[in-house]
Amino acid sequence: MQARDRIVLALDVDTREKAISLVRELAEYVGVFKVGMQLYNSVGPDIVKEINQLGGKVFVDLKFHDIPNTVASAGRVMARLGCHMFNVHAAGGREMMQSLVKELKQESELLGQAEPITLAVTVLTSISQEQLAQDMFIQDMQIKDLVVRWANMAQECGINGVVCSPQEIIAIRQACGPDFKIVTPGIRPAWSEANDQKRITTPRQALDMGADYMVIGRPIVKAADPAAAAQRIIDELEE
Ligand code: C5P
Repeated sequence: MQARDRIVLALDVDTREKAISLVRELAEYVGVFKVGMQLYNSVGPDIVKEINQLGGKVFVDLKFHDIPNTVASAGRVMARLGCHMFNVHAAGGREMMQSLVKELKQESELLGQAEPITLAVTVLTSISQEQLAQDMFIQDMQIKDLVVRWANMAQECGINGVVCSPQEIIAIRQACGPDFKIVTPGIRPAWSEANDQKRITTPRQALDMGADYMVIGRPIVKAADPAAAAQRIIDELEE
């Protein structure tokens, strides 16, 4: 994989114009554009097709979590939209993930397309050990162990990878092997601001620990020259 293919640019904007202008500006510097709840719910699903038409691949970050039939049907929609990757919550359970994988395969065959990459979200990185105990009533497990268990379960269900914190990359890589995709946010080049991200890693460190893709937003989007910032990250990944 080339360095630029590893960069997932977070399109955290809420108008079509802003999103499309970033795609036009950065299409040759990033591999995938991430459309999350903010943009998707502001402008609708056609944004995925529009980005594809401009030559960009799309990660639809909507974190599905519902009954198996509903999530599997949403997966069919993702295939029809032409999305490159999308995610679900591993907490939705085995049956949910298995139904999704099965129906996604059928839909992609019907369409004659490659299947989108499916990713599982394990424990959100915003959840602390304390919240896990107090809000979710899971008292006897360390977050890291839970993350690895869910990653294993997702893999057994046929899910292609996970979204995880940089701190979990090594453990997941070890547990799930070389082919399981690892996508990580919380990325900050040494020369950029941390903003609200706390436990951060440089793109190079994430790559060395075993990440496949790095989700990066503000260090590129808010840079004085976004294309130059993206190129600098590519150079660091290639070093
Ligand atoms: O601007 P920044 O590089 O912090 O953007 C990171 C992106 O990754 C945002 O879209 C954010 O919602 C997402 N994300 C994250 N941390 C997580 C999961 C997702 O920053 N644990």
